[in-house]
This record gives sequence, structure tokens and C-alpha cells, in this order.
Amino acid sequence: MQDKTHLVDEITGHRRMRRNRKADWTRRLVQENRLTVDDLIWPIFIVPGTGIVDPIAAMPGVNRMSVDKAVEAAKEAADLGIPALATFPDIEMELRDETGSNSLVANNLINQTTAAIKKAVPNIGIITDVALDPFTSHGHDGILRDGEIVNDETVDQVVRAAILQADAGADIIAPSEMMDGRIGAIRRGLDAAGHQSVGIMSYATKFSSGFYGPYREAINTKGLLKGDKNSYYINPANGTEAIRDAALDVEEGADMLMVKPGLAYLDICWRVKEAFGLPTFAYQVSGEYSQIKAAAMNGWIDGERIMMETLLAFKRAGCDGILTYFAPEVAKILAKR
Ligand code: PBG
Repeated sequence: MQDKTHLVDEITGHRRMRRNRKADWTRRLVQENRLTVDDLIWPIFIVPGTGIVDPIAAMPGVNRMSVDKAVEAAKEAADLGIPALATFPDIEMELRDETGSNSLVANNLINQTTAAIKKAVPNIGIITDVALDPFTSHGHDGILRDGEIVNDETVDQVVRAAILQADAGADIIAPSEMMDGRIGAIRRGLDAAGHQSVGIMSYATKFSSGFYGPYREAINTKGLLKGDKNSYYINPANGTEAIRDAALDVEEGADMLMVKPGLAYLDICWRVKEAFGLPTFAYQVSGEYSQIKAAAMNGWIDGERIMMETLLAFKRAGCDGILTYFAPEVAKILAKR
């Protein structure tokens, strides 16, 4: 005799979602998305000198490393199976100026790093940013003239910097400065310099975000930045504009697209992947990392669990991979599974 006091009806009985969730083996069998080490790009910070591993206060567990230490880290990453690194320099204040001229020095810190890693660990991919912010005395991504970040002049310089980065051995150029027309210009510049096989991962949809705070501490642009980046980064309120911006980058020859920041922009990840079908990456930026670390250090959340959950969320949202400061930590966990 059926117990009529239950409110679950016959129709529901045919559609019990929990049947597929009932045991570990069914859950594994029906799992739609998986995070693997192949999905990880590890962003690292480089400082001048040797033997330096300098902790970044706002990013617990992340260090600024001198080139020799970065080479060691690259070896470790390669051994873990991490496909690629993204490198960011924290250069001497004396070398920073109005136009970011150090970006045009062939053996500057970022290019030294690329050359050294490529020599010691040839099988790990190197992704370099060409934005000028690590090189400018005002912390902006472009050339500042009469209170304005000038577009076309910045693009000219970024193209020259990109060619030097490719000369040093960079595999993928990742322009994050959001100037108009940069992807096409970099593509033409690279091709003319014989770098046809160097790819472009466009920071296609980069939002003007508060989540970049700890990064600015890491490369010491925090105290320098005058004003904000609203005249070149995208307004966080605008999804459709972001898709239009990405469309231009696709037309201009981007090989891969990036959405940045990550977790607050999962809708953009999904829309970008759906619209263009290009390899799409999310950048889980410094503020996202630090939030998780800080709450975990306070015992308020299970840091490892949330790290894995957020990274899996990017996969579910259509991303092919994630730039994340958690990369080595995650790779070690995945290796044990
Ligand atoms: C700037 C740049 C930023 C990041 C990388 N390159 C943002 C910014 O300071 O404006 C952020 C990375 C992070 O927060 O992890 N071109």
C-alpha cells in the first residue's frame, strides 16, 4: 500500500534526479566537466637580482622571484605537467618613466626571464604581457600625454615590445592594455619580424576591476597609479560591449581569448566561448586568489575545496583553461588523485 501522506507524486517518481547521484561511481560516471593539469597557466612575478624569493604580503603563498629562482619554478611547473607560465616583472623604480621605455630594452627583466626559462626548460610555454604598466612611472598600461592614455602611439610601442619578447623566445604574446587595434598591429608586426608561429592570447574582455588590487602591490604600481583605468578597460556593467570588443580581436587575428577577472565574469566566459568558439581562458586574478587565501587562513572556509570548486566552475562556464596563482598547488593535488 502506498503511503498517501507523502507529497511526492507518481510523475516525480519517474524523474528522480538523485538516482544518478546515489553513489560515488554514478557521480563519477555522469560528471560533465573535469579540471586537469592541462588547464592551468601559472602567472609568476619576477624581480631583478639572484637568489631572491620574496613573499607578496597581499598574496599569501605567492612570491616575487629572481630569474634564477623563476627557472627553478619553471622546472617544477614542467615536472608537474603545467603547460605554460605567464610572466610579470617588478622592475626597479629608477627604470620606470613616462613612456615605459624599458619595455623596448631587448634584454630587460621580462625578456631575460623568457630566455633563461626557454634555455633551461624548453618544453614549457611562455606567455608574456605587453602592457606598459610595469614600466611606467604612472602605473598606466599606455603612454600618458596631457592626462590622456594615447592609443595609437601606445600600440606602436606595444608592437615593438612584442617583437622583442618574441625574439627572446616568448611563445604567446598576451596584450592586456586594451588599446584599440592592438591585436591586428601586433599580428602584422610579429609576421613582419618572422614570428609567424608566435601566437596572440588577447585579454579580449578586460574589465576595470577592483580585483586587481594585490597584483598592483606585487609589481609595485599601487602607489604610482594616478586615477583609474576606466578610459581603456571595460565597464563591469557591460556584457554586450565586451562581446563586441572580443569580436574585433577575433577579426584582427587573436588565436586565443581571455576573460579577466574570472569568477565575477562567468557569464562573459560563456558568451565569449559560445560566440567565437576560440580557445577561451579565464584569469582568476590576484584579488580572487587573495580572498580565498584570506578566508581560508581565518578558518572561515575550506580553502582547498573552494580553490578546486572555483576552477571547475570556469570549466563549466566554457573555459578551456585558467590563469591562476593556485596552479602549482592544484597540480600537486591533481597528481595525487
Ligand atoms: C595590467 C595588468 C593587470 C593584471 C595583469 N596585468 C591589471 C592592472 O593592474 O590593471 C592583473 C592581474 C591580477 O590581478 O592578478 N596590464
